[in-house]
Amino acid sequence: MTKIDPNAPIGVFDSGVGGLTVAREIMRNLPMEKIIYFGDTARVPYGSKSRDTVIRYSRQIVRFLREQQVKAIVVACNTASALALSTLEKESDIPIIGVVKPGARVAIETTKKKRVGVIATEATINSHLYRELIRQMDPEITVVGRPCPLFVPLVEEGWLHDSVTETVARRYLKDLQDQDIDTLILGCTHYPLLRSLIGEIMGERVTLVNPAYETSLALKRLLEAGGMMNPGTARSEFPYRFFVSDAAEKFKHFANSILPFDVNMTEQINIEEY
Ligand code: DGL
Repeated sequence: MTKIDPNAPIGVFDSGVGGLTVAREIMRNLPMEKIIYFGDTARVPYGSKSRDTVIRYSRQIVRFLREQQVKAIVVACNTASALALSTLEKESDIPIIGVVKPGARVAIETTKKKRVGVIATEATINSHLYRELIRQMDPEITVVGRPCPLFVPLVEEGWLHDSVTETVARRYLKDLQDQDIDTLILGCTHYPLLRSLIGEIMGERVTLVNPAYETSLALKRLLEAGGMMNPGTARSEFPYRFFVSDAAEKFKHFANSILPFDVNMTEQINIEEY
């Protein structure tokens, strides 16, 4: 590992806007940390792409973030965490964490019936990583996965409280309602924004796990253990920078709807150059 400057920012990336739900939790739980966020808005969605493509995209983003001198990287995208993280970890000389493992760990701690549901993109479900990690830690747990691909465009359309979204959600979640699960992982960056609707449909006996929140806590533990927490002394006035690969204005609009402050500046870069 290279020598790490605690004042350096944390790199957070996602296929687009969804990773802001992870960035938001990091901002809440690690208020002294600076963040460089990259959303791959030109190439979203990752959820329907192959492993090779997601690895190639993720490598380019890691190169870009390294150029920004980040001290650690959070793969805020479930799909990239499921398909590319193990490769990125092997290649990285700074700490790099994803959202899948923290989510899996909490699901294990939460389930009493040992029956866990996972909703995510097609690629994440087909990778079976949530299932593998959970069963490695507790082989008695049954994991039932369900892809919910339409949730991503519905959230991006802003239809969080809409009858169309409710109809789609009821249809997707129907199978899971019959599976006797007591824990459900929201295994895609966008799904925490539908939390109240999903919670209402699944009922109060099902606990929803938000990997975004758990990831921010895992990051905190990692920074503490490595003596990498930002002491806050060299903090710039506005500690967050946002980069995208396309449609900066649209990104800003979405960011302003979910972050507790206004994102005034979003910089567009050509990620294919990395
Ligand atoms: N960020 C992705 C995820 O968490 C959802 C959007 C996409 O398919 O790229 O899996």
